[in-house]
Amino acid sequence: MDLYTPDEFYIKDYRFVPYLTRDEIAERVTAMGQQLSTRFEDKTPIFVGILNGAFMFMSDLIREVKVPLEIDFWKLSSYGDEKVSTGDVSEIKAIDANIADRHLILVEDIVDTGLSMQYMRRQLQSHAPASVTTITLLHKKEATRYEVKLDYVGFEIENRFVIGYGLDFAQQGRNLPHIYIRDENQ
Ligand code: IMP
Repeated sequence: MDLYTPDEFYIKDYRFVPYLTRDEIAERVTAMGQQLSTRFEDKTPIFVGILNGAFMFMSDLIREVKVPLEIDFWKLSSYGDEKVSTGDVSEIKAIDANIADRHLILVEDIVDTGLSMQYMRRQLQSHAPASVTTITLLHKKEATRYEVKLDYVGFEIENRFVIGYGLDFAQQGRNLPHIYIRDENQ
């Protein structure tokens, strides 16, 4: 297969270099899918992908979960074209499913400050789901300042900006199969 895997990638003069390969990601996704398969057997969970960034992780993850399940998507406000969080979260697209008494699995691409994850957990409380489980492919532990409970983490990463595998900077870079990290020495 001929993959789109440049050795460096520029967005607005910022240089990004390969960080986690497609194979490394796939291996973790398979392992997490197996864990979820065991835990949610006979529960028909609803996987809720957080748009836009989690669409690729979500689609790979659910194919590694070998029990009946449903999917939905939730879209929150993003950083816009900036790299720094404004501290505000708002809802752009709600969850469509009736989630009362259902087992929910929130699927995030990355947890940075933890603000979005905290917002989501709080929003869900009033809808009385049977359980809420959180999974994120990436976690910038050093940057997390809001208290969040992350049940499954693909990779703990350093506090630098990353793109690829669904993640963007100024809406670009989502189609890269590897994850790239900002080169701060450029
Ligand atoms: P948090 O609310 O600060 O935890 O940020 C979560 C959201 O910020 C993620 O769902 C991403 O959309 C975005 N984000 C945070 N860090 C990065 C990054 O390094 N690359 C791309 N998006 C990021």
